[in-house]
Order: sequence, then structure tokens, then C-alpha cells
Amino acid sequence: MAVKGRSIRGLSRKSSNSTLVFAVFIGLSFVVFILLAFGIFSIPFTSKGSQKAHDLSSIAHNTVGRRDDDGGKRDPWAEVISWEPRAVVYHNFLSKEECEYLINLGKPHMKKSTVVDSATGKSTDSRVRTSSGTFLARGQDKVVRTIEKRIADFTFIPVEHGEGLQILHYEVGQRYEPHYDYFADEFNTINGGQRIATVLMYLSDVEEGGETVFPTAKGNHSAVPWWNELSECGKGGLSVKPKMGDALLFWSMKPDASLDPSSLHGGCPVIKAKGPLLSLDAFAVVRFVSKAVIIL
Ligand SMILES: *[C@@H]1O[C@H](CO)[C@@H](O)[C@H](O)[C@H]1NC(C)=O
Repeated sequence: MAVKGRSIRGLSRKSSNSTLVFAVFIGLSFVVFILLAFGIFSIPFTSKGSQKAHDLSSIAHNTVGRRDDDGGKRDPWAEVISWEPRAVVYHNFLSKEECEYLINLGKPHMKKSTVVDSATGKSTDSRVRTSSGTFLARGQDKVVRTIEKRIADFTFIPVEHGEGLQILHYEVGQRYEPHYDYFADEFNTINGGQRIATVLMYLSDVEEGGETVFPTAKGNHSAVPWWNELSECGKGGLSVKPKMGDALLFWSMKPDASLDPSSLHGGCPVIKAKGPLLSLDAFAVVRFVSKAVIIL
């Protein structure tokens, strides 16, 4: 009996202690809440974060892993270049060997580039695109499969959502006028699904010109660290300079699955280069599923 009684008393003392701790916790939370509500202090993340979003001068121009000698594999590193459109450059995404392999693979099959006709969904010749190119079959060989897998890992978009890779070839003077990668028509979206993102991989270096330019990207375009290296056309927006092995990922859709008009982009004319500029385009589409998939 006595043992039982003591244990009950002990229990109730313990529970009154934890009630007190709980009351103090609630009280403190309330004080913090009041301070936040009246703006006496604020969580720094919220205010600074929104100011920084379009500040292109804040781009960390990281030099870690950059080696300009061609020996060995260079370390990959990522650089967010814009939030509107959402765009990120993945440096050293492809090795030199992979770039050379893809160039040799595409070389014998280059045809004048066409654009997709929005009325019929068929490819038509176009004056806005003066490059030539060729499509690779999805998963056509081991190297292509490895690259497709790497793109899937980098973008978080499964391989099955990718279109076949496309190799593009720009001679000096050739360009691609600003355009959207998403489809504005019903035909393509019903048949293949809407495009959600594009990865553009540069297979060769260019001395001058050939930039990928986003003319309507939000932010001060001249604040990028490489501004002085850009051509006149490249200065017409937020630009990425082509570098062998680098990959540029940008989204044509916002996270709420609406089309993003700030994804307007073009290829500037190549001005000076040892050879043609070659790039590898990968498009990801929403395939046979509702848009809800990318909301996740
Ligand atoms: C844009 O950035 C450049 C370079 O940092 C700066 O000189 C210029 O004043 C900025 N322009 C605006 C409108 O903020």
C-alpha cells in the first residue's frame, strides 16, 4: 500500500513539473510570436532571400574544380544563373572524349535544321534557324545511354520523359532566333506531351559569339561576371557562353505547371571559332500523364 501511494505522489509531482515546463514553453513561443507579428525582429531568410533572387551579381563564380589543362577528368560543378527562367549551368558535364564521340557520331548525318510547324506538327524549313543538325535515337548506344542517364540524374526527370538527343551544328554566322521550346499548339502537346525542360550541352568551344541568350530573363543582365566577354547579341539578355562539356538546364514550365515566357532563348551568331559550334539538345516532355506529375 505504502509503495503504491508513494509512487502515485511521485508521478503527480513529475507531471506538475512537465506542465510547468510546457507552460513556460507556450509562454515563450507567444512572446516570440508577438515580436514577429509586430516586426520587432524578423527571420532574416525571408527578406534577404527575395531581394537576392534576381541579383545576378551574386552568382558565385566558383573556381574550384576548374582546370584549364586538358589532362584528366575535370570536376563537375553547378552554377545557378537565373530564377526567371529557372536555369543552371552544370560545368564539365560531358568529358572531352564524350564530346568528340558525339561529334563524330553526328557528322555524317547533318541536315539543315527545321522547326516544328504549329499548325500541322510537321517539321518545316525556317529562316529563323540557320544551323544544321541530326537526331539520335533514344538509348542508341552505350555512350548515349550513359549521357541520357546523367541528364535524368541532373534534372530529376526520368529517362522515359526525354526526347531523342539532337546534335546541332552552327558554322560562323549561323544562329537561332529567340524562341520557346514549349509548344503553343494542341497538336504536339496531345501527341507527345508538353515540353517542360531543355538541357543544352556544348560540344565545342567558341572564341566569340555563339552564346545562348535569354532576352527576357529577370535581373540586371550586365551584372554577370562574364559580361565583357559577350558579343553584341549576347549583351541582348542574360547569356551563357558555350564551353566544351558544359551543360545548361532551363525550364520551360514553372513549378505550378504553367508555361514560363521568360524561357525565351536564342543562339547568337558564331563570330570567331576554330571550328563550328556543336551542341547537343535534350528535351524533356510530360509523357502520357497529366500535368500533375510535375507539380510533385
Ligand atoms: C547593373 O549591373 C552593373 C554591373 O554590376 C552596374 O554597373 C549597373 O549599375 C547595374 N544597373 C542597374 C540598373 O542596376
